[in-house]
Amino acid sequence: MSSKVTLSVIKADVGGYVGHSAMHEDLLSEAETHLGSARDEGLLVDFHVTACGDDLELVMTHRNGIDHEGVHRTAWQVFEACTEVAKHLRLYGAGQDLLADAFSGNVRGMGPGIAEMEFEERESEPLIIFMADKTSAGAWNLPLYKMFADPFNTAGLVISPALHAGFRFEIHDVKARRRILFDTPEEIYDLLVFAGTTGQFVAKAVYSKKGTIAAVSSTERLALIAGKYVGKDDPVCAVRCQGDFPAVGDVLEPFTMPHIVAGWMRGSHYGPLMPVKLSEAHPSRFDGPPRVIALGFQLAEGHLVGPRDMFDDPAFDEARRLTNIIADHLRHHGPFEPHRLPMDEMEYTTMPEVMEKLKARWEGLPS
Ligand code: 13P
Ligand code: 13P
Ligand code: MG
Ligand code: MG
Repeated sequence: MSSKVTLSVIKADVGGYVGHSAMHEDLLSEAETHLGSARDEGLLVDFHVTACGDDLELVMTHRNGIDHEGVHRTAWQVFEACTEVAKHLRLYGAGQDLLADAFSGNVRGMGPGIAEMEFEERESEPLIIFMADKTSAGAWNLPLYKMFADPFNTAGLVISPALHAGFRFEIHDVKARRRILFDTPEEIYDLLVFAGTTGQFVAKAVYSKKGTIAAVSSTERLALIAGKYVGKDDPVCAVRCQGDFPAVGDVLEPFTMPHIVAGWMRGSHYGPLMPVKLSEAHPSRFDGPPRVIALGFQLAEGHLVGPRDMFDDPAFDEARRLTNIIADHLRHHGPFEPHRLPMDEMEYTTMPEVMEKLKARWEGLPS
C-alpha cells in the first residue's frame, strides 16, 4: 500500500437512453451501489459516478497504483452489472463497449477507456476531469497543447517561475502501438507534426520536466480494438491544476474555442466540441454535436471533494453559440467531406462492405 494516491477514471458505454443520447439513472445507481461496496471493503478510498451522454464514468481514488487488478476487475464488474440493467430496460446498445467476454487481469484492450495517474497528493490538490461524448481519443491533443505549451493560453508559462521550464508530452502512435516523448517549448514544432494528426497520434500524458505527472488521458481506440465501428471512444482526461501546473482557468480556457473533432453521427462526422454543464451533456441533434464536461475536485487525503461543474459558467456561452453556428454550417454539407470523415478514417465502418459490393461494377478509364 502506497502513501501516494491513485486516480483511476474508467469509462464505458454500456447502453444509451434514448438511442445514444444519455444515461438512464438506474445505471448510475447500480454503479454507485457496487463502488460503495468496493469502498467499504477498503479497495477504494472514494469514488464518484457520473455520465457524459451515454457514457458511464467511474472516477475512483485508491492506494493501489495504476493497472491494479482489483480496481480494474471492479470497474469491469460494474460495467457488466450495468449492462444487465441496460438489457432489462432494453436500452440502446446494451454492453456496447464491452468487447471481451471475460475479465483477464486488466481492462485495457477490452473496450473501456482508462486514464490513471499515481502521485503524491499536494497540500491542496485541485483536479479537473474532462469527459467527452461523440468523439474520439485524440480530441484532447489540441486542448492539452494549449494548456501546457501555448503561452497565449497559459499565462504561467511566461510569468510563473514554476511553469517557465515547460512540460513533457507523451504521444502514443495508436496504430503502430509505440510512444515518444517531446519536451516543450524546445520541441513544439516536432510535437505538432504528430499531435496534429489526431486519429493516429494521441497525447497520453503530460509531465513536468522533473517527471511529475500533470495530466493523463484515455487513448483507447474502440474501432482499432474491435476491427470495426462499434461506437466512438468518448475519451476522458484528468488534469492537475495550480502550483507547478497551469491554473484552473488556464486548463479550462482552451474550450472557449470549440475545436472540430471526429465523431458525431455514427462516429463518422466532424463537428465542433461543445463545452457544457452536466445537465446539458445529452447530445441529441444529429446525435451531437460532440460534448465535453469538466468536473472539478479538490482531493483531501484521497477523498474527492466535489464535483464542481466547471462549464456551468456563462463565460462559455459564446463557445456554445459558436458551436451551434459551426454545427449548422457543417450539417449543410450532408454526406460530403469535410463534414463526413475522409475515406481512410471510415475504414472501420460499413464503407468497406459497400466498396466490396460494387467492386465488379468499376470499369477502367481509357488512358
Ligand atoms: P443502428 O444500430 O440503428 O444501425 O445505428 C447505428 C448506431 O447508432 C451506431 O452505434
Ligand atoms: P456513442 O459512441 O456515443 O455510442 O455514439 C454512437 C453513434 O453512432 C452515435 O451516432
Ligand atoms: Mg452509445
Ligand atoms: Mg458515447
